Amino acid sequence: MKVALVTGAGRGIGREIARQLAGRGMTVVAGVRDESHAPEGTRPVLLDVTDDAAVGNAAKLVGEEFGRLDVLVNNAAVCGDYGVSPADATADHMRATYEVGVFGVVTVTRAMIPLLRAAGEARIVNMTTRLASLTLTQAKDDFNVGWAMLAYNSAKSALNALTVLYANELAGAGILVNAVDPGHCATDLTGHTGTRTAAEGAAVAVRMATLPPGGPTGTFSSEEGPIPW
Ligand SMILES: NC(=O)c1ccc[n+]([C@@H]2O[C@H](COP(=O)([O-])OP(=O)(O)OC[C@H]3O[C@@H](n4cnc5c(N)ncnc54)[C@H](OP(=O)(O)O)[C@@H]3O)[C@@H](O)[C@H]2O)c1
Repeated sequence: MKVALVTGAGRGIGREIARQLAGRGMTVVAGVRDESHAPEGTRPVLLDVTDDAAVGNAAKLVGEEFGRLDVLVNNAAVCGDYGVSPADATADHMRATYEVGVFGVVTVTRAMIPLLRAAGEARIVNMTTRLASLTLTQAKDDFNVGWAMLAYNSAKSALNALTVLYANELAGAGILVNAVDPGHCATDLTGHTGTRTAAEGAAVAVRMATLPPGGPTGTFSSEEGPIPW
């Protein structure tokens, strides 16, 4: 049975990813900050991605219980500058956002790499957004102009860069690393403004988490296809 770890699995899209991977027969370790929020049928683990000790404990638990990790979904994120114009965004908005969605991803991924290597054909899925696309932002795409946020969007651009660097680094180990955009979903993050459900948003992450061997790596896509970097 394959083993998956999903960060931020207590609500929103992460909770749906955890549920859908469990529905496919995977053993799902649900990274949560409140164990009572873990979806039914998952193995909860207390995991604040900004807490080095908690991340170390989660890696130890997965190692001791399963000896490997087949799927890592870096889903946890915050949007520190929701509703703040780029001209008003501060370094504190940046720090809060990067702490979870960039530095947290590095802490978790680094801790899990030995377990991912042990799995042989592991997959990493990074939850990003089309707002991360420098190409679409420069082209003044309507959605990217409407949701212009200095901290959140640039943190996701950084996460896209991490995706490519990890993909190159881990290709030799058969680990596929991809960035996905779930689309605009009605969750707490968006103030429930999105038009898609969290379950619909989860689908593309599940697809990339269950890629066959030799599948794509270092890509950025939504359900509709590739997104320009
Ligand atoms: N919703 C969208 O339209 C949309 C679009 C594009 C990309 N995304 C991305 O999809 C992912 C999920 O978004 P969402 O809409 O489901 O967001 P959400 O409803 O706001 O949920 C965010 C999740 O991140 C967790 N989290 C926050 N800080 C954390 C920390 N320090 N350590 C561990 N977990 C932490 C939260 O846990 P707690 O419950 O403990 O706070 C929660 O489970 C994010 O990466 C987001 O950027 C979302």
